[in-house]
Amino acid sequence: MQSLDLPPPASSKATSGPAVRAYGPRRPDAPVSPLFLERWSPRAFDGSPVTRSDLQTLFEAARWAPSSNNTQPWRFLYAVEPEDRERFLAGLSRANQLWARGAGAIAYLLVRRDRSAGPDPSPVSRFDAGAAWMSLALQAELLGLSAHAVGGLDRERVYGLLGVSPEEYEVLIAIVVGRRGRPQDLPALLAERERPSPRRPLREIVQEGPMAPPLQPPPAPQSYS
Ligand SMILES: Cc1cc2nc3c(=O)[nH]c(=O)nc-3n(C[C@H](O)[C@H](O)[C@H](O)COP(=O)(O)O)c2cc1C
Repeated sequence: MQSLDLPPPASSKATSGPAVRAYGPRRPDAPVSPLFLERWSPRAFDGSPVTRSDLQTLFEAARWAPSSNNTQPWRFLYAVEPEDRERFLAGLSRANQLWARGAGAIAYLLVRRDRSAGPDPSPVSRFDAGAAWMSLALQAELLGLSAHAVGGLDRERVYGLLGVSPEEYEVLIAIVVGRRGRPQDLPALLAERERPSPRRPLREIVQEGPMAPPLQPPPAPQSYS
């Protein structure tokens, strides 16, 4: 495992200015708050408990996320007690259970099904729930915690484990929360990947104007009369 010599997560980033320095393999292409570079998803956790009060702060951050028509379609369930944590962990894929066990808390993010729009949550509701997750993740970083989203679930099982009605809610992801631990305590394959990941360059994901190559103007409508 290569040592990255990363600074520890700070809890005072709210006031720090734009980052121009790299954070490990993360190099900003434009000035941005260090918060965005320093948040990443660890799999090594130190096993220390996460207080209910800290969790409330995370969910409070999520509560203030914007949503379409302010519908706030998200719902969180969380576990900190060992028995509850075991139950919540059992909904993760086996590969994810391996590392998530070391975290202090685990939550699930559900999205309310909009009955007026049919049996499925609208794409916009899922988008809203994603915004709430990101607020939570950034708030975790500000508290010196890490939040790791987990989509690798046994979803059918989660409904039963958590007593969630599939008619009312869709289970989106689990969120594993804790303090970063030692990579060497992970199985070797995971230890190798335990580092902040890079991103595609900014120029690959954003451009001014229409999509390149430029769109051809649509052909003139034909008349069939
Ligand atoms: C919706 C979602 C689902 C994810 N599912 C998993 C998962 O099942 N297992 C896992 O180890 N990481 C999972 N991740 C973490 C991603 O692999 C990680 O966010 C991505 O590689 C970028 O790395 P970073 O979060 O460290 O910046 C998931 C992330 C998101 C946002």
